[in-house]
Amino acid sequence: MSERAPTGDRRTGRWARVRAALRTPSAPGGAQGAAAGRVPAPLVRAEQLVKTHRGEGTAPVHAVRGVDLTVEPGEFVAVTGPSGAGKSTLLHLVGGLQRPDSGGLWLDGERVDAYGEARWALLRRRRIGIVFQFFNLVSNLTVADNVELPALLAGVPAGDARASRAELLAELGLEGRERSMPGELSGGEQQRVALARALVNHPALLLADEPAGSLDSKGTREVLRLLGRFHERGQTILMVTHDARTASAADRVISFFDGQVADDAPLGGSRREGRRGVSGVLELKE
Ligand SMILES: Nc1ncnc2c1ncn2[C@@H]1O[C@H](COP(=O)(O)OP(=O)(O)O)[C@@H](O)[C@H]1O
Ligand SMILES: [Mg+2]
Repeated sequence: MSERAPTGDRRTGRWARVRAALRTPSAPGGAQGAAAGRVPAPLVRAEQLVKTHRGEGTAPVHAVRGVDLTVEPGEFVAVTGPSGAGKSTLLHLVGGLQRPDSGGLWLDGERVDAYGEARWALLRRRRIGIVFQFFNLVSNLTVADNVELPALLAGVPAGDARASRAELLAELGLEGRERSMPGELSGGEQQRVALARALVNHPALLLADEPAGSLDSKGTREVLRLLGRFHERGQTILMVTHDARTASAADRVISFFDGQVADDAPLGGSRREGRRGVSGVLELKE
C-alpha cells in the first residue's frame, strides 16, 4: 500500500516514533474520487464551526463559537488575536487535527467536517501542509529525512522525494544542511526545514500556527519573507498569530476574539461587508 514505508526500508524501524511525531496516523488505501467539472469553490469554507474543549473535572472551554470563514485560492490570511482566543483550535479544525462539535467545513468544495482520522490523514499528506511554533521536526532524523518523509508517506517514489527535498532546501537556503540533525540547527533554520517539510507535497493549503512565535527577530523576518515569497507564487496560506507585526505579512487579517471573528479586513483596505466591527478590541492597530 502506498501509504506505508517500503518494506525493508532502512527507516522502517523508526516508523512508530516518526508517525507519532508527525501526527500522521496510519491511513488505509481508499483514494477518494476526484469530482470532475465542479464549479470553482473557496479553498476553505467554514460555516458556524463550534468547538468546545471538555476535560475531566474541568469546566468546558468554548474555544470556537460559531465561526464562518472563507479562504480563496491564493490568499494569505492571518488570524490574529490575544492568547486563548481560540486561534490554534480554529487552525486545528481546518487541518483536521481536531473535530468540530458542529458546523460545516469544506476544503476545495469537498465537505470534510465528518471525515474520520484516516481520511484526514490522507488529506493532510496530499493537500495540507502545517507549520507549528515549535517546528515539531523528528529529532532523530536528519534534515533530509525530515523533509522527504511526508513525500514518502504520500507514496512519492524515493527518487522524486529526494529531488523535491533538494530543490526546497536549496530554495530555503539550507544547502549543505541535509545531513544535520535538527538539534544542530538554529531555531530559524529548523523552522525553514519545517517549512520545506510542509511544502514538499505541494499542498493546496499551508497552515501555520505562530510560525515565528519562538524565533528571534532575524528568524522571524526570514520566515515571514519566505512565506511571502511562496504566497507570491500562488501558495494559499492561513496563519494564526497573536503578533500584529507577524499578521501584517498577510494580505488579509481576521481578528479573532473569544472564539469568534471580530473583524475581517484586507490589509490597508476597507472592512469587508457583513462583519461585526469590533476593531479596537484588539491590539491590532499598534
Ligand atoms: N485540548 C484542550 N483541552 C482543554 N482546553 C483547551 C485545549 N486546547 C485549548 N484549550 C483552551 O481553549 C482556549 C483556546 O485555546 P487556543 O485555541 O489554544 O487559543 P490561542 O491559540 O488563541 O491561544 C484556551 O482557553 C485554552 O486553554
Ligand atoms: Mg495558539
